Amino acid sequence: MRGRSRGRGLSCALVAALAAMALGACGQERGTEGTQGASTEATGDGHTAPTPAAAQRTIEITPDMVTAGQALFVRCQGCHGENGGGKQGIGPHLNSATFLAAASDEFLFNTIRNGREGTTMIPWGASMSDHEIKQVIAYVRSWSDAPAAELNEGPLHGDADAGEEIFGAICAGCHGRTGAGYQETANGTGIGRHAFLSTATNGYLRYIAKNGKSNTRMRGFANGDEIAVANLTDEQIENVIAYMRREAW
Ligand code: HEC
Ligand code: HEC
Repeated sequence: MRGRSRGRGLSCALVAALAAMALGACGQERGTEGTQGASTEATGDGHTAPTPAAAQRTIEITPDMVTAGQALFVRCQGCHGENGGGKQGIGPHLNSATFLAAASDEFLFNTIRNGREGTTMIPWGASMSDHEIKQVIAYVRSWSDAPAAELNEGPLHGDADAGEEIFGAICAGCHGRTGAGYQETANGTGIGRHAFLSTATNGYLRYIAKNGKSNTRMRGFANGDEIAVANLTDEQIENVIAYMRREAW
């Protein structure tokens, strides 16, 4: 009896340790720390209130930074394509005008620095300095001169239960039933993951859901957009984002 229970105790400890490793508990902690450090570094403050367009661009870009960033982008193009044109099922487009209008420097910086845990987008902060990451962002920014979009960063007021139906009927087809992205379909990215949703602001999500990601199959779902595969009202977009946030994994 004693031997058995000791044995069980030991294996429990082992299982717990393995589970913690499998869940990447340590990595996640480091990622969170990195995010906080980076947001202070990238923005100089770290506020979350409604963001005026100017506050989304905090990295000062010089021609030298663009040139240096272009050389660094060699590390990225295997997945993101030459000139950021994307590779279906491998790496998303980075040279999309609506994407670059909606993505703040902070979002780009944190995504590149911390990666997206659970995907092939590794934390590049392990092998690139903050300055190098800013150089690569300068190069990525050179693909579009679209100004920063006005983002509505107000709190979400959606109904997650109502959003579930919309997600299942519309978004799941390209992003996967749980938003696993490339791991389930070859189309959209992993929009259900905590690693993505903790970096993407409400304003970014609202903007992309409404306006789509130009240059990709992600169309705008805003009501009245004739090319949209399905039109959604603002309220329905709130609902679907509320659902994504509630289910983040
Ligand atoms: C091994 C493949 C791979 C490499 C190399 C890679 N990425 Fe990624 N990247 C991905 C994938 C996959 C995603 C999307 C993951 C998801 O959320 O499903 C991504 C997402 C991103 C995003 C967010 C895009 C969006 O639509 O929100 C940015 C920005 C980015 N990568 C920049 C870079 C930069 C800069 C480099 C080089 C330093 C790089 N990546 C190297 C695979 C890669
Ligand atoms: C027809 C396929 C399709 C449908 C339907 C679709 N998406 Fe997408 N979505 C995509 C593609 C493709 C991308 C961008 C991939 C790339 O850049 O190559 C994307 C990107 C996104 C992004 C940006 C993700 C990131 O990594 O930055 C968000 C947010 C998003 N979609 C939300 C939604 C929501 C919400 C719905 C449902 C209302 C939806 N999508 C329906 C194909 C689709």
